[in-house]
Amino acid sequence: MSTSVIVVEPVTSVSPDLVEAMARLLPQLHPTLPLPTAAVLEEVLQGQATTMLVARDGAQGRVIGTACVVVYRTPSRLHARLENVIVDDPARGRGVGAELTSQAVRLAREAGCSVIELNTNPRREVANRLYQRLRFERHHTNNYWIKF
Ligand SMILES: CC(C)(COP(=O)(O)OP(=O)(O)OC[C@H]1O[C@@H](n2cnc3c(N)ncnc32)[C@H](O)[C@@H]1OP(=O)(O)O)[C@@H](O)C(=O)NCCC(=O)NCCS
Repeated sequence: MSTSVIVVEPVTSVSPDLVEAMARLLPQLHPTLPLPTAAVLEEVLQGQATTMLVARDGAQGRVIGTACVVVYRTPSRLHARLENVIVDDPARGRGVGAELTSQAVRLAREAGCSVIELNTNPRREVANRLYQRLRFERHHTNNYWIKF
């Protein structure tokens, strides 16, 4: 296991290594998710509301994790949502997930959001522990979706 410094930064451009990294990481969130093309990643970066973070193993190193924070306004409040928190399997247990999540929380606070929300399946035990360690509180509400 590497012990080099972990660098978390917003993605500013799409490169082949980013496309490769997302193709490696997204199946670790769910194996049937479509892999994002360079064009899809460009679309993500162009979205004013979205900040995509990556964690690198060393300043110029391999991408070992990602997270996405989306800031949006409704009449009631300025919200943030945390999505797509994923750390590459061999890099887990080094605090990368915690660093990605903490940076997303910091971005939301600095943007003036009054809340940052996420959903995670109760079966994702490591993720549930991680979020609770970082002061996310479980909110007793029903989540609904229509999947298109
Ligand atoms: C959930 C996930 C992002 C956590 O990533 P991670 O980088 O391993 O997270 P961390 O290292 O910050 O914390 C995980 C564990 O390692 C421990 N840890 C943290 N820093 C550590 C370090 N420096 N050295 C050793 N262990 C450490 C933590 O205590 C934690 O242990 P716990 O689960 O017993 O509390 C990762 O497991 C993952 O990608 N899972 C699959 C996708 C997923 O479920 N994503 C969440 C979707 S909502």
